[in-house]
Amino acid sequence: MLSNSQMRDVASVLHPYTNLVKFREAGPLVIEKGKGVRVFDENGKDYIEAMAGLWCTALGWGETILADVAATQMKKLAFGHLFGGKSHEPAIALAEKLKEIVPFPVGKVFFANSGSEANDTQIKLAWYAANARGQTKKKKILSRTKAYHGVTLASASLTGLPANHRSFDLPFSFAIHADCPHYYHFGHDGESETDFAKRMAANLEALIQKEGPDTIAAMIAEPIMGAGGVIVPPEGYFPAVTAVLAKYNIPLIDDEVITGFCRTGEWFGCTSYGFQPESMSIAKALSSAYLPISAVILSNELSAIIEEESGKIGTFGHGFTYSGHPVSAAVALKTLEIYQERRILDHVRAVAPHFQKRVRNLTEHPLIGEAVGRGLLGGVEIVKDKATRKNFEPAQQVGAAVARHAEEAGLIIRPMLNDRIAFCPPLVIDVPEIDELFSRFETALNKTLDWATREKLL
Ligand SMILES: Cc1ncc(COP(=O)(O)O)c(C=O)c1O
Repeated sequence: MLSNSQMRDVASVLHPYTNLVKFREAGPLVIEKGKGVRVFDENGKDYIEAMAGLWCTALGWGETILADVAATQMKKLAFGHLFGGKSHEPAIALAEKLKEIVPFPVGKVFFANSGSEANDTQIKLAWYAANARGQTKKKKILSRTKAYHGVTLASASLTGLPANHRSFDLPFSFAIHADCPHYYHFGHDGESETDFAKRMAANLEALIQKEGPDTIAAMIAEPIMGAGGVIVPPEGYFPAVTAVLAKYNIPLIDDEVITGFCRTGEWFGCTSYGFQPESMSIAKALSSAYLPISAVILSNELSAIIEEESGKIGTFGHGFTYSGHPVSAAVALKTLEIYQERRILDHVRAVAPHFQKRVRNLTEHPLIGEAVGRGLLGGVEIVKDKATRKNFEPAQQVGAAVARHAEEAGLIIRPMLNDRIAFCPPLVIDVPEIDELFSRFETALNKTLDWATREKLL
């Protein structure tokens, strides 16, 4: 029986990432409020939010300082923009703060509202810069199978997941997808992780040669692939890949929309994996998701060439009404100050070993094939047969069953392609809460095992 608000929802709301036919009967889980790492539904039941919403609510729920900053800024200057030479203090101060913490020399910061907009901007900037250099054939952008870079037309083209393309007439042809570096599935028998990484880099080089290096404007990559299934790069992957890109002078766009701001145990994932990009996309934890805001961080060289080209054209013809919105910018600035004042990076480093131990221990369960992660990001894969690493049939919806049983046990997790499950809790989670999270997850796994046995899926 659906509640009144569930029925109203089913009648009126078109839900992202939802089987909209099944949803007519199941209805939504209506969340009413949140505190710390927990959210509460309309009946008052509590859930540990093991996904920090959508990999974003880094400070957890109920951070009143951020609400106060938003209210103060809204009363002072509710809207201001950056078009045509206008500016305001929150955008200036936020850009300065980002230049201070980003781990490479930054020229300028461009503000947008979502990860997708940031990555669309990256593509446009790659083309703009290439044209400015007279490299007018450079139109292709390399991405990877199972990458997630957003859902707008261009960023969805970079995304390498079937559901984001099918029936949407995507991807556009500028997007070229290289191999997904998932050792668990794609490593050959007897191949070491480092040899696998070398093979991935060699395949990338072969792809660049096949497409033509003079046609490739940039490559985009997430340090850890998030929505594609929490795929952690194999040992030596980024050093090998960045060496290939350097050889062909192809700039690397670092998509830190999930991995940015302490998630991996460093301020940014590129530091965890030892590479330096030409530009970076950030969003989500930039404001702890309290308000929408994203940014593109540009190297000195990229900033300079874009400025020069705009001078020739007469304007830099790009920007959103809400680029650097003062209320979002003020909240983001305060969020970054809180990360620093409360030493969130030290906290992540202190609790991450326990979190990772709990993630990896899950392989003891009969349903878990792979368990990986870094910092406070983790992922597991549900398999039918551990020896052959074979998944259940997609139609059997085993990942969805785990999520359903987790919800019953008071836990919100995210099932993804190939029955992979992500854990990305608020960064403020403490050790007892980590234990509670995994004990609820184990309850869900056991229920799923019973269900799968009853349904004769095993
Ligand atoms: C790595 C990455 N890039 C880009 C995006 C797109 O961000 P948005 O949903 O804000 O458009 C996401 C969203 O999950 C992401 O994980």
